[in-house]
Amino acid sequence: METTTKRNIPTLKDMKQVYDAYTKEDHQVWKILFDRQIVNMPQAATKEFMIGLEKINFTADGIPNFEKTNDILRELTGWELVAVEGIVDDCLFFELMSNKKFPATTWLRKIKELDYLEEPDMFHDVFAHVPLLTNQAFVDFLEAISKIGHDHADDAVAIDLLSRVYWFTVEFGLIRENGEPRIYGAGVLSSAGETKYSLSSEPIHFEYHVEQMLNTPYRKDIFQDRYFLIDSYEQLYNSIDEIKTGLTEKLRKLEVIN
Ligand code: CO
Repeated sequence: METTTKRNIPTLKDMKQVYDAYTKEDHQVWKILFDRQIVNMPQAATKEFMIGLEKINFTADGIPNFEKTNDILRELTGWELVAVEGIVDDCLFFELMSNKKFPATTWLRKIKELDYLEEPDMFHDVFAHVPLLTNQAFVDFLEAISKIGHDHADDAVAIDLLSRVYWFTVEFGLIRENGEPRIYGAGVLSSAGETKYSLSSEPIHFEYHVEQMLNTPYRKDIFQDRYFLIDSYEQLYNSIDEIKTGLTEKLRKLEVIN
C-alpha cells in the first residue's frame, strides 16, 4: 500500500509588511503585549532570548519594522523575515527556512482579543521567535531540520512526524541553564500563562529525546502536558543526524504495518 501522500506545494504570495498601515491601536496592542510579557522574561526565558532581544532592538514603543529587523538579522546570522498572510503550509514553511527565511505574519491581534487567538499573530511570530534567530547554533539547527522537511516535502506523513520535533523544540522547548529550566520555545514565550505553567511542577519535563519526540503527537489547543529539556543549542544541531535516521526508521516501520 502506498504510504506517502503526494501534496501540492503552494508557493509564497508576494507580500510585504506595510508599516504605515499600522494604526495607533496596533502599536498600542504591541506595547501592552510587550510590557506584559517582558517582565516575565528575565526569570523565565533563556538568556539567549534576552541577548537576542537587545541585539534585534525590539521595544515596547512600536511594532518592529521588518526592513530594519532584517538589516540586523542578515548581518548577525544571514537570516531574514519574509512576510506571510497567516499560517503557512508545512512544506512551504520548511522550504523557506531551509533558505534562511523565517515566515512571519504582519497582522496583530485586536485589543479585544488580547488573550485568545485562533492562530499565531505577529506578537508570536516576531516577539517570540526572532530574538533566537540571532543565535548561530539555534539557526543552524532550524536550517538543518527544515532541510530534512524540504527533502520529504511530498510526504505528508514524514512532514507530520518532523513537525513533532519542531513543536517540542522551536515552539515548546526548554533549556537547562545553571541547573534550572528556562524557556526558548516561542509558543511558550508568547503566552504569559504558559510561561509560568511550563516552568512549574505541573507538566512533565523530559530530557531531550529524538525518538520520544517523533513518537509523541501534540495538541495545539491546550497548554502542553510535557516539555523536553536541552542542555545547549549545540545539542539541537548535533541531533540532526539522529532526527534524519529516526524519521527514516519510523517511516519504514509504518510502511511495514501498512
Ligand atoms: Co511559532
